[in-house]
Amino acid sequence: MGVAKSWRFSVISANLALLQHPNGSLSNKHVCWRWRSSAAQQRKPISWSLVCGLMLFCLGMISLFTGHVASDLEWYSQRLVKRSLYFKLDGSNKGPIDIWKSQYAKYFYGCSKKSRNFPHAVRGRSSNGYLLIAASGGLNQQRTGISDAVVVARILNATLVVPELDHNSYWKDGSDFVNIFDVNWFISYLAKDVTIVKRVPDKVMRSMEKPPYTMRVPRKSPPEYYIDQVLPILSRRRVLQLTKFDYRLANNIDEELQKLRCRANFHALRFTKPIQELGQKLVMRMRDMAKSFIAVHLRFEPDMLAFSGCYYGGGDKERYELGEIRKRWATLPDLSADGERRRGKCPLTPHEVGLMLRALGFSNDTHLYVASGEIYGGEETLRPLRELFPNFYTKEMLANEELKPFLPFSSRLAAIDFIVSDESDVFVTNNNGNMAKILAGRRRYMGHKRTIRPNAKRLSALFMERDQMDWDTFARKVKAAQRGFMGEPDEMRPGRGEFHEYPYSCICEKPLNDVVDSRSGDPQSEQVRGYQGLRKEEPVSLGYKDEDAAG
Ligand SMILES: *[C@@H]1O[C@H](CO)[C@@H](O)[C@H](O)[C@H]1NC(C)=O
Ligand SMILES: *[C@@H]1O[C@H](CO)[C@@H](O)[C@H](O)[C@H]1NC(C)=O
Repeated sequence: MGVAKSWRFSVISANLALLQHPNGSLSNKHVCWRWRSSAAQQRKPISWSLVCGLMLFCLGMISLFTGHVASDLEWYSQRLVKRSLYFKLDGSNKGPIDIWKSQYAKYFYGCSKKSRNFPHAVRGRSSNGYLLIAASGGLNQQRTGISDAVVVARILNATLVVPELDHNSYWKDGSDFVNIFDVNWFISYLAKDVTIVKRVPDKVMRSMEKPPYTMRVPRKSPPEYYIDQVLPILSRRRVLQLTKFDYRLANNIDEELQKLRCRANFHALRFTKPIQELGQKLVMRMRDMAKSFIAVHLRFEPDMLAFSGCYYGGGDKERYELGEIRKRWATLPDLSADGERRRGKCPLTPHEVGLMLRALGFSNDTHLYVASGEIYGGEETLRPLRELFPNFYTKEMLANEELKPFLPFSSRLAAIDFIVSDESDVFVTNNNGNMAKILAGRRRYMGHKRTIRPNAKRLSALFMERDQMDWDTFARKVKAAQRGFMGEPDEMRPGRGEFHEYPYSCICEKPLNDVVDSRSGDPQSEQVRGYQGLRKEEPVSLGYKDEDAAG
């Protein structure tokens, strides 16, 4: 995956990159964030005053030639001066990073408001037809499908029928949309963007000569595909169903549509009240015990390990058991377990996740909330993690009777883990699955809450050599390996990776004025107000304070 590339924060390259985009919205204060390029990746710390001096000098030179460019340059150099001043105040461009939160998070905010010229949803007769969606996969995979379905309905000027959830996936859950998500909120939140109905009206159903046409579009189809291939059928048949709907829309689409994708994913999809309430109760129980906590999402199911082709040191017993499971897939290639590990393809064990966290600097009294399905090897596999972090909790430990009504429904249980993981101060996973991706994206949007993805490729080498070095060396190497994998705002270039994981179109940079204003406690700053407004819309959001949590 392209994730492996790290992009370090560099004001210089940012400015140079922006200079190459003179058509960027310079007059617009809410400049959408362009990720910094890597040119300065390896550079040593730079004297900011020297840089500013140079920039101003260049500015002077260039202004001799052209007034137009100079005004752009002036804007950037001012920004640079302010920012370097700010970093000095902050002292945050030096020394070890704060493991609990990103210092750069405050420069950015989630932005998904539509622009003024984004037309209203088509209604009634002007709709091109009814779009039925059969989502596919587990809870989080379906979430991507539902968000994308909203955008596809918009592209087609179709009326979206509330998507059907997958009842036959690996997770086997008979829940419908209304059991998991607040359907009325979903419809009303998006009303201006897409017309959504609960079912195709009887009148339309009766007038149809044939049952709805069903088709499956290729993965990552661009909007043109929908217009060229899907729209003609929809127009002809009036009702069309898209099946297996997950990751069926391209990553890079028009910015307004990306923002709609974010509105659907981050705002319109809200869990039903019972799920929401239990999730928040568990969050409060964690917060009652500790000011901050880490949510650890572990995937270590036997099937997943078998599929990965990795070996975890369990001897012949493990080889036999996983080998038996592997027979389920006829076409699995013969993988070398060592090779897979070196290539970073093996999910970290619970023990390795614990070692990584301790090496990063989390102390043994840190509270963990562990979200997981079945763990291969059970308690025995979890024990080393518990020894590293004795304050170890799961939803089963925090809830008692309250969990009972949810137990038969894997998606509702997953939703509870989603809420606690979303609210955690630090989120860490041992895998690159759908929940890991969706939560990583959501946490970026919600203010770049610290999200740690193991750099498995480099860590696996370190774990293999663990016995050959002392703890301090190991910790130093782990910290170095994890650079670029800590959920910092600029780890990925825009447009790279999965949009749901890196929702670059929905991350904006705050004007520096406002950052400085907010430091000095000026609540009147326009930008800061905008930011808080956005947070307020978000129902899942829980702060540190109890009064927030009670809401
Ligand atoms: C959808 O409607 C808008 C007007 O709101 C129109 O400009 C656009 O061409 C329509 N697209 C399709 C695919 O019908
Ligand atoms: C953490 O480690 C210290 C020794 O390094 C030990 O005294 C303490 O009891 C441990 N705390 C927990 C919660 O286990």
